[in-house]
Amino acid sequence: MKDQLIKKLHSKSAVIGVIGLGYVGLPLALRYAQVGYKVIGFDIDPEKTEKINSGESYISHISDATIQDAVNKKLKATSNYSNARNSDALIMCLPTPLDKHREPDLSYIINTLEALIPYISKRQVVSLESTTYPGTTDEVLRPRLAATGLEVGKDIFLVYSPEREDPGNPDFTTNTIPKICSGITPACLEVGMALYEQVIDQLVPVSSTRTAEMTKLLENIHRAVNIGLVNEMKVVADRMGINIHEVIDAAATKPFGFVPYYPGPGLGGHCIPIDPFYLTWKAREFGINPRLVELAGEVNSRMPQWVVKKITDGLNSKKKSINGSRILVLGIAYKKNVDDMRESPAVEIMRLLQEKGAVIGYSDPFVPVFPKMRRYNFELSSEELTHKTLNYYDCAVIVADHDGIDYKLISDSGILIVDTRGVYRSHADNIIRA
Ligand SMILES: NC(=O)c1ccc[n+]([C@@H]2O[C@H](COP(=O)([O-])OP(=O)(O)OC[C@H]3O[C@@H](n4cnc5c(N)ncnc54)[C@H](O)[C@@H]3O)[C@@H](O)[C@H]2O)c1
Repeated sequence: MKDQLIKKLHSKSAVIGVIGLGYVGLPLALRYAQVGYKVIGFDIDPEKTEKINSGESYISHISDATIQDAVNKKLKATSNYSNARNSDALIMCLPTPLDKHREPDLSYIINTLEALIPYISKRQVVSLESTTYPGTTDEVLRPRLAATGLEVGKDIFLVYSPEREDPGNPDFTTNTIPKICSGITPACLEVGMALYEQVIDQLVPVSSTRTAEMTKLLENIHRAVNIGLVNEMKVVADRMGINIHEVIDAAATKPFGFVPYYPGPGLGGHCIPIDPFYLTWKAREFGINPRLVELAGEVNSRMPQWVVKKITDGLNSKKKSINGSRILVLGIAYKKNVDDMRESPAVEIMRLLQEKGAVIGYSDPFVPVFPKMRRYNFELSSEELTHKTLNYYDCAVIVADHDGIDYKLISDSGILIVDTRGVYRSHADNIIRA
């Protein structure tokens, strides 16, 4: 069983099913198609499947031509799970958010797996790529597959291989980022390696799915904690009248033992604000409360309020209040040069300002229209950055420091600027660091 499947994967005659065609799943599906596999992409969002099948992209850093090329080769998108029957591999790239109590919400994974089960049969490999707590693959996926009567590791193979996608980063592509791979049994790992080795330049096998799950969490927690540290240092430096960006640049000249992290308006994106709580939740089951991780989350989640306080102080120095002031948010995506709005701190800043009576506008070339979100709805669209726009507003707050924005135009206009990203390094009376 195993050898037949590995042979099919090696010869690229295997059909690869990718479930969830978002920031992680779409690039992976494209990569499999690019190297010559037949790929079936599954997504419950019919807009996405229609776009793919007509050669259109919905992610800013992926071109229409790349999608069209993959469709011409061997990619087909569908919302119909019965096509899973024809797949040799089922790779799940599904969201793993937190619920309203900030606890792991595995409903996307569980519901999807249950919907796929009628189409799962012998000689298939199921791989989970979503970020999750240690134990998910073994405790949540394995029993559901075993309940079909198929033996995991013999009839069917179960793999966990976390995604390390960094959307918008031009230095890395899906294949050049080394990938962790693990299996429920040694045979599962062997199949997992065969599944990924044709599309990824360097695979890093580890001994268990729990190790792989924890590895992914360590990577993201490492970022969250260090960003928390530098955000705290920022607040201290600010009170002391020191420019934290100058401090970081100076410290980064040390050729060993220091890695620069940069402060900002708060965490954003699907990963860093969420993943640490997958670990803290699971750790409680073992009687451990990872306080440093929780504390970093607390420091980082206070940043939008800190930015709003800086805006308040800036307006106050001009004898103005937030109430009634016109505030332009520059860059509303969660980080520079992407169109991804998930968990963006800009949204919380806008909400806090609006609550205090500000009139809000925004400018972001990556986000032409403010998207509908679960908890917020601003009926706004991006304003063009001109003299006229800048004259209309009382304050501009830089939240995402996209390239290609005319920062000189903004500072030359004399508008009060609240800079959360260290765009402006030299002192000016109209610029406040936040
Ligand atoms: N975005 C990143 O940079 C990144 C990086 C590393 C890891 N991850 C992890 O990868 C996972 C996926 O993240 P993402 O950013 O790709 O999410 P995403 O929201 O961009 O994509 C998920 C896709 O799954 C689809 N979907 C939801 N339910 C479905 C179902 N039942 N059947 C089929 N499709 C369904 C959605 O329509 C969406 O297109 C998460 O666990 C995330 O933490 C993300």
